[in-house]
Amino acid sequence: MFSNIKDQELIFRNLINGNWTNSKSGNFIEIYSPIDNRLVGKVPAMTTEEVDYTFESARKAQEEWKNTPINKRAEVLYKAADILEDKVEDLTNIMMLEIGKDKKSCESEILRTADFIRFTADASKSLSGESIPGDSFPGFKRNKISVVTREPLGVVLAISPFNYPINLAASKIAPAIVAGNTVVLKPATQGSLCGLYLAKVFEEAGVPAGVLNTVTGKGSEIGDYIVTHRDVDFINFTGSTEIGTRISKITSMVPLLMELGGKDAAIVLEDADLDLTASNIVSGAYSYSGQRCTAVKRVLVVDKVADALVEKIKEKVEKLSIGNPLEIDDVNIVPLINSKAADFVVELIEEAKEKGAKLLVGGNREGNLVYPTLFDYVTTDMRLAWEEPFGPVLPIIRVKDKDEAIAIANESKYGLQSAVFTENINEAFYVADRLEVGTVQVNNKTERGPDHFPFLGVKASGIGTQGIKYSIEAMTRPKATIINLIDRK
Ligand code: NAP
Ligand code: G3H
Repeated sequence: MFSNIKDQELIFRNLINGNWTNSKSGNFIEIYSPIDNRLVGKVPAMTTEEVDYTFESARKAQEEWKNTPINKRAEVLYKAADILEDKVEDLTNIMMLEIGKDKKSCESEILRTADFIRFTADASKSLSGESIPGDSFPGFKRNKISVVTREPLGVVLAISPFNYPINLAASKIAPAIVAGNTVVLKPATQGSLCGLYLAKVFEEAGVPAGVLNTVTGKGSEIGDYIVTHRDVDFINFTGSTEIGTRISKITSMVPLLMELGGKDAAIVLEDADLDLTASNIVSGAYSYSGQRCTAVKRVLVVDKVADALVEKIKEKVEKLSIGNPLEIDDVNIVPLINSKAADFVVELIEEAKEKGAKLLVGGNREGNLVYPTLFDYVTTDMRLAWEEPFGPVLPIIRVKDKDEAIAIANESKYGLQSAVFTENINEAFYVADRLEVGTVQVNNKTERGPDHFPFLGVKASGIGTQGIKYSIEAMTRPKATIINLIDRK
């Protein structure tokens, strides 16, 4: 599995109860590259019986794992981080082919994930409870003390998306297992080669049998079955709002942590540094072809500086590098993940054109490659003002003032992040205070990292909070043991 994989078709199996296992059905899902449609590899399409066995194994392994000392669990993570770093070249080659991400971004995703895993191991050491005296509550005496410890939740089902197949799988696995849970990972089908490779890294690091398991199969076929499985104690999901909503509708009494879609706005006020703003907007909107939850997905700029800003953005968009990530190392615009994704982006582009938005750059497509597209004078009756394209198209909406920008930003069903560009700290806080999002970036593009910061979406963008310490907290619960001292006097 860890041999030189370039130009070689990969056949991966699932890690179940410590064994690399094929599906008895003999069925595989073929993974084709979004770059040139070549066959990259195959993963098993698991049956429901195999899913049952996987969850049973995770359930059984949890009994011992939760009693394994935290320092031993942390050791596995440190080893996994080191192995992951060693495998950066191999894994980059798989990731480039599987999801079409450029080399530089693949490498930085993998190295960032190694740092994430190490930081999680460090953070686990300060996992502690508290003791609460009873007599701080009216009417109680000193004889009652609550000893509060943190307990794992049990079996965590981790479902990851295609766009960060290593980082968004590891950011679920590492905090879950260090806290004493066991994990069943269901990676995105396009991204499952990376997901299974990551499982191999954890296995090599010494994760015991059953502590980390994987399930591959199309979400549309096995998704409902796994999320409603009796052995799931917690679901940690990253993906679209559509699937997240479905999961929250069909599950019951299972806690959920969800990172979903977004429509992050960059709000530009009249005193903004326009060069800094334009650079941030362009890298925020177009890197990895806009296939990032935190991509800048609309610009709300006040009329006074709109012409100047648009000119600067246009200049930069025209200079973006476009093409094949196998040929250009840090290419910005790559083919989208599949033709359905490209069709959707083109649909939004066409509707904006028909409704009178001014096309400044792009608008064209070749196969899965949608050229970087920039629209000015987008209005609120256009789908592009509200929908998440997950592609390289940026709408500029001109507004009369900051209050109109805030109103349009908040009218979105999403609430992941927003950015405000201004040199006036009072204005920055005025806007930040009023935005209905998880995070506001002042004078920076919207983005997730550093990964120990809290990361969350409100409204249709998510449930709960990620971020190393927050993820560990989310996947543990307090357990109170109350000591009642007997007064023998
Ligand atoms: P997606 O289509 O929702 O898929 C996400 C995961 O859900 C995949 O593993 C998918 O498996 C699985 N799935 C599909 N149907 C399912 C079902 N019925 N039950 C359970 N699981 C099911 O999302 P994506 O296209 O991979 O990722 C893009 C979306 O994710 C965008 O909307 C983006 O904004 C969002 N995202 C959000 C964040 C965040 O932190 N807020 C981060 C990254 C991405 P299959 O691949 O087998 O279908
Ligand atoms: O797609 C969602 C990722 O969590 C975004 O991470 O802002 O570091 O690109 P990023």
